[in-house]
Amino acid sequence: MPMFRFDPYSPLVDADPFPAYKTLRDEHPCFWSEEAGMWILSRYHDIVAAGNDWQTYSSARGNLMTELPGRAGATLGTTDPPRHDRLRGLIQQAFMKRNIESMGDNIRDIARQAAAELKGRKQIEFISDFSSKFTVRVLFAVLGLPMGDEQTVRDKAVLMVQSDPKTRAKGPEHIAAYNWMQDYAAKVIAERRANPTGDMISQFSLAEIDGDKLDEREVLLTTTTLIMAGIESLGGFMSMFALNMVDFTDARRQCVANPALLADAMEESLRYNTSAQRFRRSLQRDVELHGQTMKAGDFVCLAYGAGNRDERQFADPDKYDITRKPRGHLGFGGGVHACLGMAIARLAVRVAFDEFHQVMPEYLRVQEKLDWMPSSTFRSPLKLELSIK
Ligand code: HEM
Repeated sequence: MPMFRFDPYSPLVDADPFPAYKTLRDEHPCFWSEEAGMWILSRYHDIVAAGNDWQTYSSARGNLMTELPGRAGATLGTTDPPRHDRLRGLIQQAFMKRNIESMGDNIRDIARQAAAELKGRKQIEFISDFSSKFTVRVLFAVLGLPMGDEQTVRDKAVLMVQSDPKTRAKGPEHIAAYNWMQDYAAKVIAERRANPTGDMISQFSLAEIDGDKLDEREVLLTTTTLIMAGIESLGGFMSMFALNMVDFTDARRQCVANPALLADAMEESLRYNTSAQRFRRSLQRDVELHGQTMKAGDFVCLAYGAGNRDERQFADPDKYDITRKPRGHLGFGGGVHACLGMAIARLAVRVAFDEFHQVMPEYLRVQEKLDWMPSSTFRSPLKLELSIK
């Protein structure tokens, strides 16, 4: 029998990680991947325990499977408490001050406008024709970025999270996109500092707790990370949700008939096939798990997408069931690093599909086989052609 391997850079894993995840959970729950150069944890309870134990499973050497230069130790997702708590406290002020629900009308207008642009079409490419227009406009409105550069910013955000499957590293185009984004963020921050408005960048660049404020580099990297996390995580998930809505016709018809069900359907999609598949940590001490010894300094992958299909936690996990209400799914991660944008993401996806379905209640998939984004962390299709009935 050939030796089992797991390569998170492989296009086969991009296309369908689930058979490999099952083998990992059942036969190799603590697995050393030569290709990734890290341990892979795939069982729900192991991932939750690791996510809660930041003292052992540190984010300070980066949380993306293939990290971008300069991020480790400097951003929300790449620091441990107490530094992380301080950053999260200062940034959360901006997320909380702006009552998320108060953004609802603005987000609905953006969704309605993006859906109206599709009227009369018989075929669309969901990502470029709807989802990326919507997510970028929402993120621009929430963060307070100047309209006009949306398409370039979206393209750079998507490139930043990709990696080269051949070298298993970031390529020059990915690094160039990251550098471009930092220059772009620096210009916006300078403008907001000169003319503060009510948007998030103005708020967190000025936020203060007991006289403590974010410094220049922290504001820059936070802005860059929020643009990347917002645009790519939200856009990637919108595509995965659309894929579920097109493939599970009954679920879609129920959501069209009763849009209140979109919230439950979204939670099930975050469990069933989240776009945020795998993040990494590094070990602060030796850990014995399932008969393996992971050494201090080793990298460990928390395979959220695998934990979400663990039958030890979710009954009949390969079934897409919008009545499931999958409490504790790992679609937004967990522990101190649980997604900061989850309230905005929940609101945005629900509203977007409500408006989309009003214009296009019936749609079919055009491509049998999809091309997937080359990324060791995220999973979403590059294109999703839909024919409209
Ligand atoms: C459906 C869309 C989204 C998904 C599936 C998602 C998923 C995730 C996951 C899994 C993590 C944990 C990373 C880790 O364990 O290291 C995370 C963290 C984070 N997300 Fe999201 N996210 C989404 C949307 C957003 C949006 C819209 C924003 C911002 C506007 C955002 C901002 C963040 C930030 C700042 C963190 C780091 C939090 C911390 O380390 O304390 N996310 N996200």
